[in-house]
Amino acid sequence: MKRIGMLTSGGDCQALNAAMRGVVKGLSNSLKELEVYGFFDGYKGLIYGNYRLLTAADFSGILTKGGTILGTSRQPFKQMRVPDENGVDKVEAMKHTYHKLNLDCLVILGGNGTQKTANLLREEGLNVIHLPKTIDNDIYGTDVTFGFQSAINIATDAIDCIHTTAASHNRIFIVEVMGHKVGWLTLYAGIAGGADIILIPEIPYSIDKVIEAVEKRSQAGKGFTILAVAEGAISREDAKLSKKEYKEKLKKREFPSVSYELAARIGERIGNEVRVTVPGHMQRGGSPCPYDRVLCTQLGAAAAKLILDNDYGYMVGMVNGNTQKVPLGEVAGKLKMVEPDSQIIDEAKAVGIRFGD
Ligand code: F6P
Repeated sequence: MKRIGMLTSGGDCQALNAAMRGVVKGLSNSLKELEVYGFFDGYKGLIYGNYRLLTAADFSGILTKGGTILGTSRQPFKQMRVPDENGVDKVEAMKHTYHKLNLDCLVILGGNGTQKTANLLREEGLNVIHLPKTIDNDIYGTDVTFGFQSAINIATDAIDCIHTTAASHNRIFIVEVMGHKVGWLTLYAGIAGGADIILIPEIPYSIDKVIEAVEKRSQAGKGFTILAVAEGAISREDAKLSKKEYKEKLKKREFPSVSYELAARIGERIGNEVRVTVPGHMQRGGSPCPYDRVLCTQLGAAAAKLILDNDYGYMVGMVNGNTQKVPLGEVAGKLKMVEPDSQIIDEAKAVGIRFGD
């Protein structure tokens, strides 16, 4: 008999349901008795005791379903130790719910912030297993996160669509790609979509170099240019500012995002038509791609095995193509960024993609 709690926290992404299904199927195949409590809207459900005992029917037919059947919310890690407006101690409340339900463990699906809270709960003595979700692919200790491949597909489709219209109109197009503070999604979608210039936070760009790259293309007779720009892309000058100074600068920025600012600056200098497309939250929506469905089935089955073995305190990641338990204490709070001197960047440069450096 096992009694487990499950929650999805932070921004949603594709394959959250597929991962939960993997865990539950992995457990129910080996156990006669299993109780799964689903907490609603992320850690909120655990804090305020908003949950439901789930049945096999809840996990049926959800492999292909986007979003999360449990709902989600952002509960910043920094706020976890701060009592809520009614004085509720959130950490104590979560422990209380866990013990009240006599859970064997909590399966927590989420990104970096979620992982930090999962680790906090581990330090507080709860049994936890974390599954790494995010379209940003920025979780340290796993080769890949679920949601990433599905989001690549959507961002690539967006770039593909922009390609045909950019070519017809001889325009410069910027496609702004999600990814928070890292450039994984932009890098992969940019390469897959044949972007000419890729700007990511890990390689601060020089506007002069970007403009030079656009001009070079037009001198070579190419009428259009596609830039894949990460939402967190940053100029060389801004990269020299302190975190605080940069935050202040962003607050005063007259443009809604880095892409619009770039479009204005390129337009001023080149005098050409520059357009911006922002696929935004579409990148997190819809069904998981086949790769993510397989990944989540594997991660789910590996998580179930740990639970059956009473082996807790891990993120279940994918390391060199195999599922692996990774101690939460070793990875929580670390960000996985693109290495500017990595092979993939060298190879992208080798085929002529410019990074603004
Ligand atoms: O972390 C996933 C992500 O989609 C990031 O790529 C993006 O910066 C952020 O979430 C958007 O957050 P929200 O859904 O709160 O607007």
